[in-house]
Amino acid sequence: MAVTRTSPTVGRTPLKPAGTAVRGLGRTSRIDSWAIAPSAIGIGLAAFVVYALFSAFLWGPVFGAPYEVDGYLSPFFSPLLGVGILPAWLSPAILILWIPLGFRTTCYAFRRAYYRSFFTDPPACAVGEPRVHRRYAMEARFPFILQNSHRIFLYLQFIPLFFLWLDAFIALHPGDTWRFGLGNAILFADLLLLTGYSLSCHSLRHFVGGRLDCFSCTARTRTRHSFWQRVTNLNAIHIPLAAWSLLGVAMADLYIRLLALGVIVDPSIRL
Ligand code: FES
Repeated sequence: MAVTRTSPTVGRTPLKPAGTAVRGLGRTSRIDSWAIAPSAIGIGLAAFVVYALFSAFLWGPVFGAPYEVDGYLSPFFSPLLGVGILPAWLSPAILILWIPLGFRTTCYAFRRAYYRSFFTDPPACAVGEPRVHRRYAMEARFPFILQNSHRIFLYLQFIPLFFLWLDAFIALHPGDTWRFGLGNAILFADLLLLTGYSLSCHSLRHFVGGRLDCFSCTARTRTRHSFWQRVTNLNAIHIPLAAWSLLGVAMADLYIRLLALGVIVDPSIRL
């Protein structure tokens, strides 16, 4: 009689492994202050999300705060699209912000941060999580399977990044003079952080050096190896770059908003 073999995983939702921590949310043998890091990160992330949503969608349309002034354009709105076409109550940020939002949301560094801080999945290494997580299919099923779109968002991310650099150079020459102001310095600092964050991406590392059996066999693979080494070096500081670039975008936006509202002045040299 013929024996039919079936894979034990076919048709089943893979269960999340139990892990080594003691079962139950927050239960652990750790004696250090493990809760401080996920709590602080969660507060920081929530503060950024609230600020970004307010600035991009409410501050202008509802409270009338300009997002550009004297050649400076807020990074939340670059490239500036849809002005004069969209209704006044709809911020033009909606046409571009979905790219950096998708890029950050699916980023491995941010996934680690919000899985720990918001989903307690787990809250920290060797700390127990809710038993209900055993039914969690991880990133093999909807909705978290969408995290696999990260590579697509990586490619798209270079579009706003290109326009941000363009805007930063345009901001050096507002009108008839060259202007070197604190705002220019803030925009360039933000861009260096954003570029470092994008170029240190895990997916980019795989894109430039992945799926090769031999790094030294041909000139092409040797070139890819050299790119891979550079991205790998940068990748070692991906988490700090992710955090600092988030802060940099918020600071650049806040500076331009306050400048536009006349709350601060822009110290600058004009030639
Ligand atoms: Fe963080 Fe790609 S893994 S940007």
